[in-house]
Amino acid sequence: MPPEKQDQEVNRSIVPRMPDDCAIVIFGASGDLTGRKLVPALYHLFAGKATPEHFYICGAARSELSDEDFRAKMRGAMEEAGEDLAAWDGFAACLHYQSVVYDDGKSYAALAGRLDALDGDHRVPGNRIFECAIPPTLYATVAVKLAEAGLSREEHSWRRVVVEKPFGRDLASSRELNRAIGQGFAEHQVFRIDHYLAKETVQNIMMFRFANAIFEPLWNRNYIEQVSILSAETLGVEHRAGYYKKAGVLRDMFQNHMMQLLALVAAEPPSLFAADRVRDEKTKLFRSLRPFPTHELYDYLILAQYEAGEIDGQEYPAYRAEPGVDPSSLTPTYATMKVFVDNWRWQGVPFYITSGKRLAQKLTRIEIIFREVPHSLFRQVLGEDIIANRLVLNIQPNEGITLYFQAKQPGAEVDLRTVGLHFEYQDGAVRKGIKAYEKALAEVMLGDQMLFWRQDGVELCWAFLDPVLEACESCGDRADRLHRYRAGSWGPHDAAKMWPGHPYNHLERY
Ligand code: BG6
Repeated sequence: MPPEKQDQEVNRSIVPRMPDDCAIVIFGASGDLTGRKLVPALYHLFAGKATPEHFYICGAARSELSDEDFRAKMRGAMEEAGEDLAAWDGFAACLHYQSVVYDDGKSYAALAGRLDALDGDHRVPGNRIFECAIPPTLYATVAVKLAEAGLSREEHSWRRVVVEKPFGRDLASSRELNRAIGQGFAEHQVFRIDHYLAKETVQNIMMFRFANAIFEPLWNRNYIEQVSILSAETLGVEHRAGYYKKAGVLRDMFQNHMMQLLALVAAEPPSLFAADRVRDEKTKLFRSLRPFPTHELYDYLILAQYEAGEIDGQEYPAYRAEPGVDPSSLTPTYATMKVFVDNWRWQGVPFYITSGKRLAQKLTRIEIIFREVPHSLFRQVLGEDIIANRLVLNIQPNEGITLYFQAKQPGAEVDLRTVGLHFEYQDGAVRKGIKAYEKALAEVMLGDQMLFWRQDGVELCWAFLDPVLEACESCGDRADRLHRYRAGSWGPHDAAKMWPGHPYNHLERY
């Protein structure tokens, strides 16, 4: 990398960053994601003066809507969500709409003309973000049509395309998608969103590891016994059965969010906190994943599906009884996977990765379990093993970090208790946190790819998961292998046999 580029990377962190004037074109503007997430996030950025001085949003979708209709629709969505609309009028003036037929070249020519005119009205110099809030099956079509219409070309301005997961459904389809996107957009123009990366406490994992001197010397096989990464949800499949029944938990959560959490916990320190340095280290980590032992798959993987049950006093149906789901579906809604990283730092340390829907609590948590003391000099007095140190990184909710250690119980007896040093993420903060979508969109405007997937990482994770998916989906006793769990529980009991840190083995910690 040329020295001047390196300098830019250094400056990136110390100079306040303000995005260039730009337009955001949202494909799928009449859909759910736009009203529920994208427009509210952009509105918050606008209200917080984090959008550029000159900027506008152009919704694009099949429906025939006027600018006014689109503004009213977005306002309705915001009102429904109980948003404070004090800054709405200024924001609404930046909202426009252009109807497009996604596979029709003429639509893109019309869109290009409209964007040129809006650039003039809003004094935007041609910088454009194309956000794909459309079904993934349309990503390739839209990307190719944008390229054909010349809309991806960077001459005197920049062009970026934003895609949401899933990035394909396996290695081959993710490469295919990338080829289509690559017809018009180079890698530096592609922003593959993983909203977990934009969560503040996920970003904080790197700060915690590399801005403190005391943890990193212990962060390896010599001191760490095992690592657990859990993302539990109380939500079921909601209205997304059509997508979910083809995805299942491994594609929906593991190929993306869980792999990113693993990478942040386990990757080596980059030389600089800069997008490609960080992503290089993640790539190396993904490359070090031990190929999954598919010949003994079920010693390392528990898959399960939720049955009917109750969460907080409310009854929920089984997955198979959810609207749009086949009553004999074998789609897993829960998985615990035991993974190893074959490198010098992590040799022999198991990473237990779990995600499930309709579990007892909404909880994303990483636990680092340290090794026990090498010699217990208290054994004859205490008569039991000393509980190992444990570091808990709570990603959501109750964002914070707790380090558990042993201390003496007060009084004449010699006995120990586990106590925790606790940090709450918002305590003493000088600013309020920012929501994941806001952060992700702000970074796209800034052109910083740190929080986005790079294609090599996507492919390595598919290459890791493909054989697992193939083995699970083609195995003759698939139905017998699929465990069941009650909605509102912590998942199937068999998972607790494989994963020592499972909530069933430590209910007092949840
Ligand atoms: C999405 C998955 O990517 O992440 C959903 O498609 C899941 O199935 C969601 O519910 C979880 O995100 P969060 O931020 O609520 O943990």
